[in-house]
Amino acid sequence: MPLPQNNPEQSPSWARLKTLANTLNSTTLIELFKNDAKRTSNMSIEWKDFYVDFSKNLITEEAWNALYELAAYADLDAAINAYFNGDLINETEGRAVLHTALRAAHSDAKVNGEEVNEEVADVKRRIQALSDAVISGAKKGYTNKPFTDIVNIGIGGSDLGPVMVTEALAHYKNHLKVHFMSNVDPDHSVEVLKGLNPETTLFLVVSKSFGTQETLMNAQTVRRWFVEKASEEAIAAHFAAVSTNLTQTSSFGISNDMVFPMADWVGGRFSLWSAVGLSIALSVGYEHFEALLAGAAAMDQHFAEAPAAENLPVKMALLGIWYTNFMQAETEAVIPYTQYLHRFSAYLQQASMESNGKSTSRSGKVVSYQTGSIVWGEPGTNSQHAFFQLIHQGTKLIPCDFIGFRTSLNKNQPHQDALMANFFAQTEALMKGKTIEEVTAEFVEKGVELKSVQYIIPHKVFAGNKPTTTFLIESLTPYNLGALISAYEHKIFVQGVVWNVFSYDQWGVELGKQLANRILAEWQNGTFAEHDQSTQALLKRYKN
Ligand code: F6P
Repeated sequence: MPLPQNNPEQSPSWARLKTLANTLNSTTLIELFKNDAKRTSNMSIEWKDFYVDFSKNLITEEAWNALYELAAYADLDAAINAYFNGDLINETEGRAVLHTALRAAHSDAKVNGEEVNEEVADVKRRIQALSDAVISGAKKGYTNKPFTDIVNIGIGGSDLGPVMVTEALAHYKNHLKVHFMSNVDPDHSVEVLKGLNPETTLFLVVSKSFGTQETLMNAQTVRRWFVEKASEEAIAAHFAAVSTNLTQTSSFGISNDMVFPMADWVGGRFSLWSAVGLSIALSVGYEHFEALLAGAAAMDQHFAEAPAAENLPVKMALLGIWYTNFMQAETEAVIPYTQYLHRFSAYLQQASMESNGKSTSRSGKVVSYQTGSIVWGEPGTNSQHAFFQLIHQGTKLIPCDFIGFRTSLNKNQPHQDALMANFFAQTEALMKGKTIEEVTAEFVEKGVELKSVQYIIPHKVFAGNKPTTTFLIESLTPYNLGALISAYEHKIFVQGVVWNVFSYDQWGVELGKQLANRILAEWQNGTFAEHDQSTQALLKRYKN
């Protein structure tokens, strides 16, 4: 079944949500809490190791209800069924969207009438076999030495997911050093190759299409580097590929037993659960990779079954719609209070912005409302010393997700308590702010003469009323990480359904690629085509 094509602005709840957003101008979060002793328990969700508190958001129960109605108007339940069933919901590419089948213990999904379960199980067995053999040292390089280093060559979804997860699970790492080469910038390949020993390095060329300029160029550079030091024959033991394009992998010279197929129903930015996650399995071992998948599968089940008001991804999505479409927020920050998640927002940027950064509706019309939102963030507490000034006292509304863990993986309670004191304090400070009276009283208490500080007082006032969602999770296990990523993936899906856009294509990245190829061809042929005035001048400066 194709996804419905309902213009959300025509839903009866759209106008109501606008009115409800206006009424919030005359109240504050503090007031909302005063009037409702049960606000926190009513607006929090507990699911397995997750406690998610939505109560510090600028929203009322009426607005939540209107948002659930908006989701119903978008026919969300039917869309969820179509998604999990393997219907071709990526219509502009004629594909299903089935990364959920990669992590299900058993999936009944069918694509074009064909079951996918066996195909998924087969690739998993191969991921396990290769990762076990490399980790144990049973698989050796061309001089019979065990592998020590892995280099993942890929970009976008063939890089960001694996980088984020291997960093997030660094605590569970084994002896293998995992490196990532993504940028076509020569600096990147030079720096990654520095110090690597070809005898003990395994290269993974990861590209769904096997046609991506950056990845192919980097792979060719690495291949030349390798052959210079080893030999053409040694490639078979040192290069593996992950792709849907099996013709191209073989013409690159990768032997068939080292090629890991990917189905076209796995979107690049949702592919870490497939063989694209080989670097993850190598880095932390297959058991942890399986636990990551199991956590994601458990969240998938929750998402597919829980009613909207108790459904974590649905609530995350609708809250984002509320801020984007009714409260005029342009960005949302994701602030993990663990250094391990330092690449989490970079990963979410692709997942969310490549998916929902669209202005053409599923009916082919230009939308007249906002879609997508700008996702950004860095780990706390570092971000407190960088951009929190603007969140606390700036002019912009920036809803923030605070993600913290109750138990640290590293047993140093004083550090963990210092971290988490900041975690809790920030959301409280953002909500409460500090009034002019409080600032004045502080000076009085310190015995400062008020006249001498009158000009400082307004600068020390915090308006407060800044919204946050708190995710308090038991600990950063592979299982919980899988569930967290899956929750954000489904948030993106729900938002795309309501915004009536196609979330699983990415035509917006094509134009730049096309023009870059044209410029490269011009340099190669020495023929210079017409460019606009500015680009013409820049090109001349570069190649004069
Ligand atoms: O250019 C965007 C994109 O197509 C992403 O969607 C994708 O993750 C990335 O390029 C890499 O593509 P591939 O895995 O085919 O090399």
